Amino acid sequence: MPAYQVDRVRRRFAALRAGEVRYLDNAAGAQLPDRVIDAVGEALAALQVNVGAAYAPSRRVTAHKEAVRARTAAFLGAEGPGNVAFGPNATTLVTLLARSVGDALTAGDEIVVTSLDHHANVDPWRALAARGVVVRTWRPRAPFGTLHADDLRELLGPRTRLVAFTAASNALGTRPPVAESAAVARDAGAWVMVDLVHAAPHELPDVAGMGIDMAVFSPYKVFAPHLGVLYLGPKVRDRLTPPKLAFHAADAPNAWEPGTQSQEAIIGWGAALDHLVEIGSEVDEAAAGDERAAWRAAYAAIAAHEDALCGRILRGLDALGYERYGLPGVEERTATVAFNHPERPPGVVAAALADAGVAVAAGHFYAFDLVMRELGLVERGGAVRASAVHYTDAADVDALLEALARL
Ligand SMILES: Cc1ncc(COP(=O)(O)O)c(C=O)c1O
Repeated sequence: MPAYQVDRVRRRFAALRAGEVRYLDNAAGAQLPDRVIDAVGEALAALQVNVGAAYAPSRRVTAHKEAVRARTAAFLGAEGPGNVAFGPNATTLVTLLARSVGDALTAGDEIVVTSLDHHANVDPWRALAARGVVVRTWRPRAPFGTLHADDLRELLGPRTRLVAFTAASNALGTRPPVAESAAVARDAGAWVMVDLVHAAPHELPDVAGMGIDMAVFSPYKVFAPHLGVLYLGPKVRDRLTPPKLAFHAADAPNAWEPGTQSQEAIIGWGAALDHLVEIGSEVDEAAAGDERAAWRAAYAAIAAHEDALCGRILRGLDALGYERYGLPGVEERTATVAFNHPERPPGVVAAALADAGVAVAAGHFYAFDLVMRELGLVERGGAVRASAVHYTDAADVDALLEALARL
């Protein structure tokens, strides 16, 4: 099989060619390949009209949006396009979803959230406590911040209606056992809600295969413009009713898309799917012509590349004596690494890295319970986070490590 060529892929990204910074803040948002930028520009130039009208550009944009919906369903491994809705971002979609799930619950029903997750998949569910729903917390185990399905089992009971957890921690990169945990929740009769936001740039989702009932991800972390996607599986799709305007569509998925969507972002996301197909076809010629096979091939190549980068970051931090959090090796994690200088606060380290032209994040990354409570980093001000994706190269990592060595 032809090898994955990171240099070839990097040349497709205007921001990487410009090279203003060594970009290691990918968990906050990814860069866009040229084909995505071109598709957005073309959509704005020729298709800045609303969907659903009789004239040609409106018919085209409607068809385009629905084609991307169908491809998004295939990308997710969903049953079909009717199970996929677009929205502005994952947080807004989870908020809408949680309110609708809340309408289907009664006081005394129970739900489970985690203290590993980004709070986008925690706080909207915790808000249901105001309706008398009992909210339990599934805690990651020390020392590595891993979720265990056995611990979830202890939290389930006859009134558990939903378990919400992440497929990958945006702070530690840790990947919980999704299929196993989903099976445990399902066996107890609970709906399974999975946050795919941090996982989606690193592994091809498989919602139906894993028995997930609801999920969100953010295409803007998967090399597309700012956009959110909601998945509603067959068990929940027609059971939930989002808040509705009088003349708005009553049925899923359109009922979940109130107001006008960012059509240019949806069209840009379609081009990001092409970008992943292109990589898949390059690393496995046999995959050309079958999109899901091409995405699978792309993600396999991406995983190998990212594991190598992750190992380089971990070894480098250890050699420099930085404190790091999460799993010690490259298994069961993404190439997202949280760490601290032995003495300097994360904000100071991130600022020094910025001066050296290296872009990272610092703080709690909205995984507040995890970083501040479970890891106990309140007084330290959280942690520094470096996150790599498929276009990150060894030179990016070396620039990070060299700048850290100077601290
Ligand atoms: C794991 C995870 N979940 C949810 C979110 C929120 O996504 P959005 O910005 O699309 O609302 C993020 C954003 O960083 C994230 O990393």
